[in-house]
Amino acid sequence: MSIKSCPLNRDQLEELTKEYPTPFHLYDESAIRANARALKAAFEWNPGFKEYFAVKAAPNPYLMRVLQSEGFGADCSSLPELILSERVGISGEDIIFTSNDTPTHEFVRAVELGAIINLDDISHIPVLESCAGIPELVCFRYNPGALKGGNAIIGHPEEAKYGFTRDQLFEGYRVLRDKGVKRFGLHTMVASNELDATYFIETARILFDLVVELSAELGIDFEFVNIGGGIGIPYRPEEDGVDLSVVGEGIRVLYEKAGFASLDVRMECGRMVTGPFGYLVSRVLHKKNTYKQFVGLDSCMTNLMRPALYGAYHHITVAGKENAAHDVVCDVTGSLCENNDKFAIDRALPEMDVGDFVVIYDAGAHGHAMGFNYNGKLRSAELLLREDGSVVLIRRAERVDDYFATLDFEGLTAGSWFS
Ligand SMILES: Cc1ncc(COP(=O)(O)O)c(C=O)c1O
Repeated sequence: MSIKSCPLNRDQLEELTKEYPTPFHLYDESAIRANARALKAAFEWNPGFKEYFAVKAAPNPYLMRVLQSEGFGADCSSLPELILSERVGISGEDIIFTSNDTPTHEFVRAVELGAIINLDDISHIPVLESCAGIPELVCFRYNPGALKGGNAIIGHPEEAKYGFTRDQLFEGYRVLRDKGVKRFGLHTMVASNELDATYFIETARILFDLVVELSAELGIDFEFVNIGGGIGIPYRPEEDGVDLSVVGEGIRVLYEKAGFASLDVRMECGRMVTGPFGYLVSRVLHKKNTYKQFVGLDSCMTNLMRPALYGAYHHITVAGKENAAHDVVCDVTGSLCENNDKFAIDRALPEMDVGDFVVIYDAGAHGHAMGFNYNGKLRSAELLLREDGSVVLIRRAERVDDYFATLDFEGLTAGSWFS
């Protein structure tokens, strides 16, 4: 069971909207910090443990600064994510650049920043060498194929586009060793939103076994294994979150059994780091009763794609009506011209009125970040509830001008090239 409650009540939300109109994403700093500390505590036994926050989950510099102050690095997969990390003050080996199908200019910038380069394919070795040179520390992403079961979001590893095969790993590390590289890491990422703690322990076991085999065969030492992200969150109240201490302890037992002395364990979670601590706050704009009951919000899938994209469940409460009878079965919709723009389908909720605050939970990762501008819809603001109870704006809402920022209307004026 997970308890879902918004850190601000109806009156506080009403007050907040005097300055920041809905919709907005609200992140809870205290809760993010407490969770970050729980993750670190689970791996206290491993002095080199580090979590590289998957920037794609919530690419906001203020959230990244909070996480940096908790000792987290950044997992980047694009040039803008690298630049964002640099602007936050995260650089060097506090960044891991895990890319795929990577353009050379991104490798160049990642190497300039001193980031750990995590290659996705054996063919990227000569590409990296010719565009940026081979750095002193290199990591490969392993795809265990049929050795590891997949899950609904990420699919089966053998069908995934990511990573080296086992044979390619042996060949790739041999190539690097022969080029004089001395520092190595091994990475994998095979799950997404996985709630079974044993899955991550099993992932660590696969990597530990490989490190032993690779080291013995090639005579190289590994500095770290990175077990990727993918720790799930209990989107449904009846689900339990992953017990991080079980993951940490399970991996510790395997680590000690293998007799490692200085191998660092690393992770690059996104969802579990900020997901449960971000809320999409919206208001009811319209109610509609046709063949079904519809409650229309002032947000849409631009603000949170997951329900429309994956049919994902996101819990919903109506501020001030948490304890009212949930006796109205309705679809909660957005305003985008797509019939799948629904935050909930056939959900039992309290009777709502126009103007009510609707809180959509677990929107703090892969939420705002996934937004798009289809249909001229604009992305909402992001607010941070600070530890002292104040609320600060950490990203303003998009304005219509932002939508037009890449257009130059001059070509339409009389006498110009298009008239
Ligand atoms: C390479 C890589 N690392 C980490 C993550 C973060 O995953 P999650 O947010 O599920 O922890 C992702 C997610 O897409 C990813 O592709």
